[in-house]
Amino acid sequence: SYNGLALTPPMGFNDWAKYECNINENLFMKTGDALVAKGLSKLGYTYVNVDDCWMQKTRDANGNLQVDTALFPQGMKALGDHLHAEGLKFGIYEDAGTNTCQGAAGSYGHFDQDARQYASWGVDYLKLDYCYQPLSDYPGASAADVAKIVYTQASEALRKTGRPIVFSESAPAYYFDNSTFWQIMKWIGNEGNLWRVGDDIADNWQSVLTNYEQTSMLRLAPYAGPGHWNDADMLEVGNPGLSLTEQQSQFTLWSELASPLLLSTDVGALSGAPLAIVSNKDVIAVDQDKLGAQGTVVQTGGGYDVLSKPLANGDRAVVLFNKNDRAQTITTHATTVGFSGTGNVTLKDLVSKKVTTSTGTIAATVPPHGTVIYRVSPTHGASAPSATVLSVTQRSF
Ligand code: DGJ
Repeated sequence: SYNGLALTPPMGFNDWAKYECNINENLFMKTGDALVAKGLSKLGYTYVNVDDCWMQKTRDANGNLQVDTALFPQGMKALGDHLHAEGLKFGIYEDAGTNTCQGAAGSYGHFDQDARQYASWGVDYLKLDYCYQPLSDYPGASAADVAKIVYTQASEALRKTGRPIVFSESAPAYYFDNSTFWQIMKWIGNEGNLWRVGDDIADNWQSVLTNYEQTSMLRLAPYAGPGHWNDADMLEVGNPGLSLTEQQSQFTLWSELASPLLLSTDVGALSGAPLAIVSNKDVIAVDQDKLGAQGTVVQTGGGYDVLSKPLANGDRAVVLFNKNDRAQTITTHATTVGFSGTGNVTLKDLVSKKVTTSTGTIAATVPPHGTVIYRVSPTHGASAPSATVLSVTQRSF
């Protein structure tokens, strides 16, 4: 990784999907308190990230960013201190262009000064958006080259502070799957730890499906690995727009894709089934697996996908995903998900916790919009030839 950080996908909170500009310092302090009180910080949810709308439209006379003091009366250092005292990390948002998407002062032309400012506040994570791109300052340069120039300047600026700051880049999302996107992908992991690949998530099933399709695109998987991740955007778990089945599916799929797990809900109000979904240690372990492989689609059929994610101990996390509006039985095989040989496999359903053995068939009846996630292990024993895991090709930056 370019800075040794985010060796597993970042976990925590970002306000945007739930609150947009309706934020204030109390929200972030209370969110930090709730992450600790509900045991979520112990499970890995440590970053509390402030998105757009925290600052003013203009800089001060010295060119410094100005906090919106009506929303953050104690200022950003006080927020960072509050979170750090709880053992949490502090994330902030800016934009690589001339303005943030919501019209606050952008970082373009001020990367060094702003990086020093974040470091002085104790910032541990920067999301750098890409609205108001400075394309006209670089006549003749391609859009991908302009993105490279500004994101490289920003990443150097962060590095120069000497403070470990996870760097989240938004540029690819603005060019999803066109030629500029793939030019950006060539360098994105050299300059940062994660990057948004597609649309902004919203609190409905179609949005979850769209971001799943975008992030699970086969060509993207090789870009994921320790220190550099494809970001499918925030989790909607806990919000009213998804059924519980759909909330579980988003959490399962995001984990299978090794996406960051950033809650965007009222964490203080999180309880019952949604809290159980995001607290599932076995599913979190799939997301946080040290090998850092992104799961890929290994089989498709009528309204379903089968995904397989190689894990560090040789197991595979296998997801049977039913996109249909009616239940269906999805059937795959150990050889399809990456095991060779004919040995038995052990299947652990990571949600029901039920363990079964199989001579190779991996199947389940899956509810509409539902997922079943198995941790599949080769079964060792005299009668079962040991299975070997197929290698995944990972792009190293
Ligand atoms: C666009 C990004 O994709 C969102 O996640 C959010 O950061 C908004 N901009 C804020 O303006």
